[in-house]
Amino acid sequence: MGNNTFTLRNDQTGESWSFPVVSGTQGPPAIDIRSLFAKTGHLTLDPGFTSTASCRSAITFIDGERGVLRYRGYDIRELAERAGFLEVAFALLYGDLPDLGQKREFEKNIIYHTLVHEQIHTFFRGFRRDAHPMAVMCGVVGALSAFYHDSLDIWDPRQREISAHRLIAKIPTLAAMSLKYMRGQPFIYPRNDLGYAENFLHMCFATPAEPYRPSAALVRAMDKILILHADHEQNASTSTVRLAGSSHANPFACIASGIASLWGPAHGGANQAVLEMLEQIGHKDNIPRFLEKAKAKDDPFRLMGFGHRVYKNYDPRAAVLKSSCDAVLDELGVDDPMLELARELERIALEDDYFISRQLFPNVDFYSGIILRAMGFPVEMFTVLFAVARTVGWISQWKEMIEEPDHRIGRPRQVYTGSGYRSVLPLARR
Ligand code: ACO
Repeated sequence: MGNNTFTLRNDQTGESWSFPVVSGTQGPPAIDIRSLFAKTGHLTLDPGFTSTASCRSAITFIDGERGVLRYRGYDIRELAERAGFLEVAFALLYGDLPDLGQKREFEKNIIYHTLVHEQIHTFFRGFRRDAHPMAVMCGVVGALSAFYHDSLDIWDPRQREISAHRLIAKIPTLAAMSLKYMRGQPFIYPRNDLGYAENFLHMCFATPAEPYRPSAALVRAMDKILILHADHEQNASTSTVRLAGSSHANPFACIASGIASLWGPAHGGANQAVLEMLEQIGHKDNIPRFLEKAKAKDDPFRLMGFGHRVYKNYDPRAAVLKSSCDAVLDELGVDDPMLELARELERIALEDDYFISRQLFPNVDFYSGIILRAMGFPVEMFTVLFAVARTVGWISQWKEMIEEPDHRIGRPRQVYTGSGYRSVLPLARR
């Protein structure tokens, strides 16, 4: 590799080609291979994108070796301690934390959009009551594009901004409605005199018969959870949103595609899977048996909430959540044996050579479910809460992509492994 080029040599023919090396402000450099196929007639093969940067982005930086996560340069631990979720949302969307005037203006813009079109209530009633709330969210978020025609022109910066504000404002309303619908309770309208996290808790847990007044500590914990999940650079769901958006689909449809991708247990669905796993383990005496299952090659069981494609160190979000867990459970007076079990599982796994050698540490999902359950959320809602927070990251990444002058439709190639030409025989001869 030279200073700013990378030379590739074909050992069979002796030919060689140079490619520019692109450096960001931090992180590993990348070889710009856009001209590779034209120059060499070869494609690259990278299923799972372990060595592929799909875009340039100035939003989120991760150093997986050192366990660093920063939004717009701000460290996640400092943000969780010193900023509120809407300030973080502003930074993700616009680049810097807001000053006081910008903060007030942004909050006003979000509050203005918290209500959903009344007809969306009717839309909800088409779902079965036992539908998974993520199934409901995929449907209703996608359907928003059928309600807000006035902000669908993706080439108009003002319409893009209104769509972003609408999504950030309405996603908690829709998430709370999916919980209410599942429980057979009436929908609770947003209250614009409450902050973002408190209003969300209110819509989830108040009923017309009884108000709900969460403590300041609980509201702060909810806010922190939202901050920790707000963005995570080019993960599966964000890449899905970018790919959907690259065809110029409208932002509501793109976010719905992100929700679908987040649902999987290898991604956002892991927080639900962690609690189900802890319940299955049941007692600390059973931990060794389950660890053996996780290690066995022929057993599909994996330790949920452990391991990460990028972090080869403790996930910094898990570290914040682990310390929040005690505070929230104390505040609520909840003595959850699952927390003890989770801590013991973590302790034993981190002493096990299998997990040490593969650099498998707890990820953000390992402790979040325990806090959310203590707050009163059913397990089916865990991934929905993740989607509420991540909507900010998705829409910021979508906006960044649309505003990139040379963005193109995402269209990966393939290495074809199927049959060569075959003629179509008449049915009687096949
Ligand atoms: N339990 C047991 N073994 C594991 C685990 C686990 N949780 N995670 C990885 N491994 C092992 C693999 O079997 C593999 O072993 P091998 O080298 O002997 O074949 C090795 O560690 C590397 O694993 P990969 O699957 O190649 O890692 P990848 O980067 O593709 O997967 C993933 C990352 C999907 C997160 C994986 O660690 C996993 O499935 N974890 C459990 C699910 C989970 O917690 N997901 C949430 C991720 S965070 C988020 O989305 C918010």
